[in-house]
Amino acid sequence: MENLISLVNRLQRACTALGDHGEESSLPTLWDALPTIAVVGGQSSGKSSVLESVVGKDFLPRGSGIVTRRPLVLQLHRIDEGREYAEFGHLPRKRFTDFAAVRKEISDETDRETGRSKQISSVPIYLSIYSPNVVNLTLIDLPGLTKVAVEGQPDSIVHDIENMVRSYIEKPNCIILAISPANQDLATSDAIKISREVDPKGERTFGVLTKIDLMDKGTNAVDMLEGKSYKLQFPWIGVVNRSQADINKNVDMIAARRREREYFSSTPEYRHLAHRMGSEHLGKVLSKHLESVIKSRIPGLQSLINKTIIELETELSRLGKPIATDAGGKLYMIMEICRSFDGNFKEHLDGVRPGGDKI
Ligand code: GDP
Ligand code: NA
Ligand code: MG
Repeated sequence: MENLISLVNRLQRACTALGDHGEESSLPTLWDALPTIAVVGGQSSGKSSVLESVVGKDFLPRGSGIVTRRPLVLQLHRIDEGREYAEFGHLPRKRFTDFAAVRKEISDETDRETGRSKQISSVPIYLSIYSPNVVNLTLIDLPGLTKVAVEGQPDSIVHDIENMVRSYIEKPNCIILAISPANQDLATSDAIKISREVDPKGERTFGVLTKIDLMDKGTNAVDMLEGKSYKLQFPWIGVVNRSQADINKNVDMIAARRREREYFSSTPEYRHLAHRMGSEHLGKVLSKHLESVIKSRIPGLQSLINKTIIELETELSRLGKPIATDAGGKLYMIMEICRSFDGNFKEHLDGVRPGGDKI
């Protein structure tokens, strides 16, 4: 049986495949209804580092200024064996095994849409990574919140980024991964400020604390990690990412994960929390949570999908010979994907008792 997260991945890609042609259908509504996890935080809070640690691979563009200028929908697929590889939605038949080339393609594809103007665009880039070092998970990386535009960027970019981030996280089905650096006051965290606006009770926000190793001597993150500084429904998760010096020395990501584990288990203040700290734990918690949210939404999704199928059928019969046109061909493909869901979702529901767990 295909796992729920990858089922939703296919639907998510299908919903955006039509681009502007799909705007009059229920596809945008369906896209909004699909549970997702969006990563938010201020610039340099450690967003890219957290994503790379969860993936166990070094692949995101970096640099000063606003590097992430389009949403990156990162779909992780666990494979049992074999060499890890990546594929982009816009280059369906090309397998990347060189992750430096993945980084270059993200940045080239960003420029293709934004025309090197350093503007931002809400058109997502889809990237799938297949690896034995990942859990099944989808995360959307968003531009970092910032307070000032840099040279060459219009002043409006500060608000444009905030609005784009808000447009993702205000959806009730969006799980928020809020990244805050431990060496700054939580009250000033951009991630907490914006997530509090849309999720005041912290019911769908996961708080991640980075840079714990960079805190001033004599201070520690225990109060923050125990939820005493800012309370969320889910436990806070602390991580220790690679420092800039580690990045410059090319410290291996898997070695960095091991060192992170050692950091929490060997630091006296954190030893009692060690079992729920670190990037590997974060990936597992998010994967499990995303799956359970999807499961709880299946009935609603099913009815939306059925509505979409009817619309697509009507549109296709209006077009006449659909496959001849680009939009028609895509419509047909999307309809087939939607149809395949009905059966797939039923299988998942059949394995579930009304109360929850799988039999
Ligand atoms: P982003 O702008 O939010 O994507 O932040 P980055 O992931 O690019 O991180 C910004 C800088 O902080 C980089 O130099 C990272 O090496 C460093 N950094 C991020 N997280 C940590 C951490 O947990 N510990 C240390 N020492 N450095 C970190
Ligand atoms: Na921040
Ligand atoms: Mg970044």
